[in-house]
Amino acid sequence: MSRLGTESAFDVLARARALEQQGRSVIHLEIGEPDFPTPAHVIEAGKRALDEGWTKYGSPQGMLDLREAIAAYISKTRSINVDPACVCVVPGGKPIMYFTMTALIEEGDEVIYPNPGFPIYESLIRFLGAVPVPIPMVESRGFSFDLDLFRDRLSPRTKLVVLTSPQNPTGGITPAEDVARIAEMLRDRDLMVLSDEIYTRIVYEGEAKSIASFPGMLEKTILLDGFSKTYSMTGWRLGYGVMPKWLAAAVSQLMVNSNSCTASFTQRAGLAALLGPQDCVTAMVAEFRRRRDVIWKGLNEIPGFRCALPAGAFYAFPNVTGTGMSSKQLADLLLNEAGVACLDGAAFGQYGDGYLRFSYANSLANIEEALERIRTVSRRWASGVTTGVRAGRDNQEA
Ligand SMILES: Cc1ncc(COP(=O)(O)O)c(C=O)c1O
Repeated sequence: MSRLGTESAFDVLARARALEQQGRSVIHLEIGEPDFPTPAHVIEAGKRALDEGWTKYGSPQGMLDLREAIAAYISKTRSINVDPACVCVVPGGKPIMYFTMTALIEEGDEVIYPNPGFPIYESLIRFLGAVPVPIPMVESRGFSFDLDLFRDRLSPRTKLVVLTSPQNPTGGITPAEDVARIAEMLRDRDLMVLSDEIYTRIVYEGEAKSIASFPGMLEKTILLDGFSKTYSMTGWRLGYGVMPKWLAAAVSQLMVNSNSCTASFTQRAGLAALLGPQDCVTAMVAEFRRRRDVIWKGLNEIPGFRCALPAGAFYAFPNVTGTGMSSKQLADLLLNEAGVACLDGAAFGQYGDGYLRFSYANSLANIEEALERIRTVSRRWASGVTTGVRAGRDNQEA
């Protein structure tokens, strides 16, 4: 247990709630879940499923008609040919990480993963006794890898490579030509790729290309996706992985040993989400884009902050080294003095130090109020800000 990590967003949420209980006002920009309700037709499908008796055990791998719909959806959106036998439906995106890593990794294996990145990757790598090989996400490259460094870090012991695009916490998208080069580097190696594509529909600039679409890659890729972010269904617990059949068998066995199956009525709601109208997704992304533009502009106006334009997901990740304060001090100050909850970038790995993560899954009015509050407290550090061309250091140099 001592090797298992956590997700600090939940800790910050608890601290923010404690302040609220003392009567303080806090704007929540720490939690990574869409603030929109689950679309009405999906809720209806879930209710109907309960009435129709979808309240029993089902297949550990997931219902066949849902797996068929997922296979058709992934085949279409990633331009590949997915067999429903390669789809595993599980309670959320996270279990795909947990189960596939448990199935694949032996002690001493090396695992390459993005840093800063979703903290659960590193937590599981350490838990399984593997060797974490973090690769910095480079701010000046739109938060994607330095590909020369990536090549250098590959070794005969590399068993798994984790990719995320659009990315949490940076909002970066790996350019298609980089994904192509990564595929070339990995194609002939004896390893697997975990491609976390949970934010793939939340894109503002360019396209998030899946590594599974490149020749020879589908058979060595676990494509992780789900309903949490796209359909605002975080609490329903519904996600899936597309993977080779031999690995799907292992994941099903782990499901039998843990959850038995994913909740049946939840799967019926997921089917309605996938097959029903998609204008709810379009409207959500349009609203996120409006907020992104406001928060990006506003953060760049704060003394000592420098924020790259997020290309996807719903996170802004400003470099705050120009303030002269550590990102941890600053996150604490913003929570305690300004009533704005955000996360220290270091919570996503050592290369996230010097950055803050703001989730803009909150109303435009609240985002504007948060920016105003940050501007007000910025007087504390504004006099010490270096007014050079690039005040802060980039994470490459960290
Ligand atoms: C990159 C990434 N992958 C996966 C997940 C987990 O999704 P789920 O809630 O479906 O388990 C998250 C949630 O924050 C995430 O940010």
